[in-house]
Amino acid sequence: MSKTVTVKAHTNIALVKYWGKKDPKLMLPQNGSISLTLDHFYTETSVTFDPHATADQVSFNQKVIAPQKAQRIIKFLDLIRERSGETARAIVKTSNHVPTSAGLASSASGFAALAAAGSRAAGLELSLTDLSRLARRGSGSATRSIFGGFVEWHAGSDDASSYAEPIQDPVDWDIQMIAVVLQASKKPISSTAGMQRVVTTSPYYPAWVETANADLVAMRQAIAAHDLAAVGELAETNAMRMHALNLSAKPAFNYFTADTLTAIKAVQDLRANGINCYYTLDAGPNVKIICASSDTGTIKTALQRYFAASQLIVAQPGPGISITETLH
Ligand code: PMV
Repeated sequence: MSKTVTVKAHTNIALVKYWGKKDPKLMLPQNGSISLTLDHFYTETSVTFDPHATADQVSFNQKVIAPQKAQRIIKFLDLIRERSGETARAIVKTSNHVPTSAGLASSASGFAALAAAGSRAAGLELSLTDLSRLARRGSGSATRSIFGGFVEWHAGSDDASSYAEPIQDPVDWDIQMIAVVLQASKKPISSTAGMQRVVTTSPYYPAWVETANADLVAMRQAIAAHDLAAVGELAETNAMRMHALNLSAKPAFNYFTADTLTAIKAVQDLRANGINCYYTLDAGPNVKIICASSDTGTIKTALQRYFAASQLIVAQPGPGISITETLH
């Protein structure tokens, strides 16, 4: 009898960012990070280890993808096979509920879902902490997507000590994000290569690690105090420092487009007019606005001077993974 395990995992946006590995093989980060899991964007993945299958088969939004394009997923399945002793090939079906090409961290929800579904389908019964460690091997940000609400990923110094845990879930106060989904030109550099370049060439990298560690302490306090302005200010400063690393790398790179700068300016103008809102950005052009739900109308109206209503997606704090299992 084989079983199919289906897992739903939500994406997360970092408020104190991970941007650089100290061990690329184990995916140990240079510094810890803190994120908010979001309800609106998620991945659903089902895994079956099929003794009759001759190769791993991965389909994405109902389309089978070529093995050479599925290498990262197949490597991850190999890691699960190594740990569980499972020898069969896997049938993986994944669907992404993230607006197409929005660049909204689908690797976070994707590898969190794959870690949980794959390990359980292979007969492993891992704790949430162990799932977080396993997801880390697929994508750093996936470490945090096992959990809901505000989550901290402890950098750690080896496989055992580098995992995430929830610091506030459920989130019982008014904080949300509005994603401003912008047209992506081709990504100038992958996050893996971008991180590697800043660690090895930015003269500011040591200062980043130092300030990110201080941000972690302040962010924990701001979240515990339910202080939106403090969370927003810290997140905004931290994000711009991350992007400053990219500008100071050799050769320099950045993920901004003209629309990114327009959205940033709109947030700054709103704030100058007394609206409590802040921005953060990851390895792509999209801007995420941190704000209270009571200001949604005002912020959307202001942003609609520049962007279509369909480009503005409101997301609330979201839950951790959920698992369903069918035997056949
Ligand atoms: O693990 P990756 O490759 O998805 O790295 C993502 C890094 C950022 O999104 C830019 C920051 C973060 O902490 O999520």
